Amino acid sequence: MLPAEVVTERLLLRLWEPGDAGELAEIYAQPEYLETMPPANAAEQIAMWSRRWAVDGFAPWAACERETGRLIGRIGLLRHHDWPLVEDPVEVGWVLHRDYWGRGLATEGGRAGVHAWLGHLHDDTLYSFTQPQNIRSQAVMERLAMKRGGTTSWRGLEHVWYALAREEVG
Ligand SMILES: CC(C)(COP(=O)(O)OP(=O)(O)OC[C@H]1O[C@@H](n2cnc3c(N)ncnc32)[C@H](O)[C@@H]1OP(=O)(O)O)[C@@H](O)C(=O)NCCC(=O)NCCS
Repeated sequence: MLPAEVVTERLLLRLWEPGDAGELAEIYAQPEYLETMPPANAAEQIAMWSRRWAVDGFAPWAACERETGRLIGRIGLLRHHDWPLVEDPVEVGWVLHRDYWGRGLATEGGRAGVHAWLGHLHDDTLYSFTQPQNIRSQAVMERLAMKRGGTTSWRGLEHVWYALAREEVG
């Protein structure tokens, strides 16, 4: 089981609370989000992540700005059961409210996800997936020293995948 709460320099990564769905839904409705991501139902996702915490011992955290306590996105790890190239990979991922882009917060939270994988999971490789046009997400992957592996179709959409092998992490 991953820690339920992680504190970084500027972020509190915590479990989801019932009142979070509205704020997450606002992020999912932002045009900048929808430019690179398919529409998502915040309440359904939060319910799914709560089940994943119970079954897998981890799921993305709610990402809050420490200074204000405001929910500004989701960051963390998720085990996928339908990825076509390897069985049940663990993915590190991030979504931030548009007003919080450009400050290194996804990288900071993503780094906490990498540390959680290294310290608490046994999977040899950590993955990250995104669509080819999502350059910002790929830049986060590269800042985390993940290496581009290739492309594949997933859920009917072209995806780029990046990977970080445990033995590569110094
Ligand atoms: C993907 C996403 C989270 C990336 O956000 P981001 O702000 O670009 O990434 P970071 O938080 O790492 O910030 C990096 C930027 O902050 C700058 N920065 C400032 N301080 C920094 C610091 N301390 N550390 C790293 N970068 C810093 C970097 O130079 C970079 O600037 P740039 O945008 O001019 O290149 C964001 O674009 C998003 O939420 N998109 C919609 C959802 C989505 O697509 N998620 C990915 C799904 S696969």
